[in-house]
Amino acid sequence: MNKIIKEIENTKIIPVVTVENITQGLHIMDALAEGGLPAAEITFRTEAAADTIRAMSQKYPDALIGAGTILNVRQAKEAEDAGAKFLVSPGYSDEVVNYCIERNIAVLPGCMTPTDILRALAAGLSMVKFFPAEPAGGLKLLKAFSEPFPKLRFMPTGGISKDNLMEYLNFPKVVACGGSWITKPAKENDFAAVRQEAENAVKLVCRWKEQG
Ligand code: 3PG
Repeated sequence: MNKIIKEIENTKIIPVVTVENITQGLHIMDALAEGGLPAAEITFRTEAAADTIRAMSQKYPDALIGAGTILNVRQAKEAEDAGAKFLVSPGYSDEVVNYCIERNIAVLPGCMTPTDILRALAAGLSMVKFFPAEPAGGLKLLKAFSEPFPKLRFMPTGGISKDNLMEYLNFPKVVACGGSWITKPAKENDFAAVRQEAENAVKLVCRWKEQG
C-alpha cells in the first residue's frame, strides 16, 4: 500500500480516464506511456472499466494503473481482480475503505468536509482525495483543513488543469493531483494530443521538482 502511495507521490499527476472500450483505453495508455506519464485512474463509470484495467495492466505491468469512481465493495473487488493498483472514491465509503485496508490495497476516498476527514483519520489513512477540489473551495479550503489536520495529505481532483496545477503542487500537503485534462482529446480519438498533453504535464512536474 505504502509503495503505491509513494509511486503516486512521485508521479505527481494521475490522469483520470473514462473509457468507452478496451481498444480506446489501450490507445490512451499508449499515448500516456509515450508521453512519459504511464499512470491512469480508470473510472468505473462505464461497463468497460474493469476489462480495460486488465488489458492495460497486462500490456503495461509497471504502469501505475488504478480504478476510480469506486462506489461499493462489489466494484472494489472487480477493480482488484482486474489488477488495479489503487482505488479512488468520489466520497467516503466505510465499506470500501475497510475492504481495502483489510486487503492492503491503496485507497483514496474522497473527502471535502472535516467530518469526512475525521473518518479517514479514524481508519488510519494518511492520504485522501480532495474532491471536488475547485468547486468545494480549492486551495483556500485545503489550507484551512491543514490547520486542524496537519498530518493528512491530499490528492486534489476536480477542476485541476495545467493552469492551476503548480499552485496545488506548491502546497506541501498536496501529494499529487488528479484530473481529466490530459486525456480529454481521447473523446475525439486524438491520441496524439493526449501524448502531447502528457509530455507537457511531465515537463511541468520536472520543472517543479527542479525548483525543489
Ligand atoms: C474525477 O472523476 O475525479 C473528476 O471528475 C475529474 O475532474 P476533472 O474532470 O475536473 O479533472
